[in-house]
Amino acid sequence: MDISKKMTSKVIGLILFSTLLMGLSTLSFAEECPQTRKTPTAPKEFLNMQNPLPNNDKNLKSAENLFQEKAKPIACKFCHGVKGNGEGDPDFESTPSARNFTCATTMDKLPDGQLFWIIRNGSKNTSMFAFSDLSDQQIWQLVHYIRAFGK
Ligand code: HEC
Repeated sequence: MDISKKMTSKVIGLILFSTLLMGLSTLSFAEECPQTRKTPTAPKEFLNMQNPLPNNDKNLKSAENLFQEKAKPIACKFCHGVKGNGEGDPDFESTPSARNFTCATTMDKLPDGQLFWIIRNGSKNTSMFAFSDLSDQQIWQLVHYIRAFGK
């Protein structure tokens, strides 16, 4: 075998190996549904709350802007994924995986007030932190928006 053939087979080997690795890493990020939740339950008074805002284009647009770009310190998409399926940006570590909003089995059991409370206060012991800069109105807009991923 001459040098160039050796090199070629090495390169092919490397390519095959990295494809395998990529396959494995997508497996571990695969959408989980139903999803195990590490998130605590909101206080009773929140669980009974209903979204006071109409589910209209204006509210969904504002929420999209927050979810995909503007929420501080980082936008929701980095952990929850552009499509809300819990497959975030691989450069952002989220422990455990962020909530998969497209999973109706999990989401249908969660009242609006539960989602509101977690966005406001964060989910202790997970990487979901409190978004304390968001107004009540912005959080309720986000609640409509994340529910829309499952529809
Ligand atoms: C740094 C990563 C990260 C970012 C950024 C993030 N989340 Fe989360 N989110 C998580 C994790 C992790 C969980 C908890 C998963 C679990 O309970 O197993 C979670 C859970 C949630 C829940 C679940 C509530 C429940 O009761 O199950 C909601 C709602 C939510 N996030 C909304 C948002 C919104 C809206 C934003 C942006 C304003 C956002 N998240 C940004 C990581 C993140």
